[in-house]
Amino acid sequence: MTSLTYKIAGRPCRIVVGSSLGKTLSILLRETVGNGRLFVLCDANVFALYHKGIEKQLSRFSPMTIVVPSGESTKSASQANGLQSWLIDSGISRNDFVLAIGGGVTTDIAGYVASTVLRGVRWGAISTTLLGMVDAALGGKTGINHSAGKNLIGTFWQPSFVVCDTDYLHTLPAREYRAAYGELLKYAALTGGKTMNQIIRLVTTESVSANDLKEVIVACVQYKMAIVKKDERETGSLRMRLNLGHTFAHAIENTLGYGKLLHGEAVTLGLFAAAELSRSIHPTSLRALNEWQSVVKQVMTTIPKRRLDPVRLLNAMQSDKKRIEMSVRFVLLDRPGKPIFVRGIDMVLVRQALTAMMVAWEK
Ligand code: GLY
Repeated sequence: MTSLTYKIAGRPCRIVVGSSLGKTLSILLRETVGNGRLFVLCDANVFALYHKGIEKQLSRFSPMTIVVPSGESTKSASQANGLQSWLIDSGISRNDFVLAIGGGVTTDIAGYVASTVLRGVRWGAISTTLLGMVDAALGGKTGINHSAGKNLIGTFWQPSFVVCDTDYLHTLPAREYRAAYGELLKYAALTGGKTMNQIIRLVTTESVSANDLKEVIVACVQYKMAIVKKDERETGSLRMRLNLGHTFAHAIENTLGYGKLLHGEAVTLGLFAAAELSRSIHPTSLRALNEWQSVVKQVMTTIPKRRLDPVRLLNAMQSDKKRIEMSVRFVLLDRPGKPIFVRGIDMVLVRQALTAMMVAWEK
């Protein structure tokens, strides 16, 4: 087991990675829940598979539990409102604790609900997907989607702890597991070097040892949390680099309709487009990006085909960028390990990058 503690916004956040973490969870809950009550928001698929074990593990805290539907469409204002009402009707107080159990959808909405009820109740997460363990559950970005864009409603609200118990991955459907490759390949591009090689091996190897998997999760946690510690609210370019491929990905998710592709799948497509755009802006990166991009392409072939509309994608990207005042900057790559921020990109080049991605995906 690896346990890492970060102090963010003046409060400690503990991240534990390993397997058979039941005892560790009990200790964390004893420390954090104290004499408060425990409210559990659990993903429906996870609940169906694990409810007996979870109920046994949490019984000493006499939790109140609600089951949250699986899938991106759950990250809606109406679901958030239902969960907030449940907490309020159950008499939640500031001293209580919200525990999210599930993947990125569950931790995003549970964190959002915890941050808004009573102006903020403490929360923690058991991340049950690989994508959640390496990205979504970390760093305190919480939120729901809006018809105008992905994650447009949300807060920064750090969890007290995140438990990444790899035992949950044994029952994770293959498609969900592979969706994490999008975020993993993002880290590979951002870190370069040893971590990039480890991630590429993990993504391209059929059977990965438990230890290799754990090492990659820990490396991603360390990379991301070091950034979050310095730039929690993405006020500088530091945290912004974690959005590599995401401007494309969010537009893909938004124009297709939430849930038509998994977030990590859209990120993989976004990474390919970002690599193409990097090449057209900065041709020297051509060779250095080759190996990494060919792995991205390999992962793309496993993503179910959907029809994308380049005009709608461009419109969605432009309005997303304007809204979050990023119209001037795109996260691109000089080479693996060296993200760059490029201002005022010609939309003709963006369209070409999108077309190249769509052609590669079709093959
Ligand atoms: N997923 C990007 C971030 O947390 O900043």
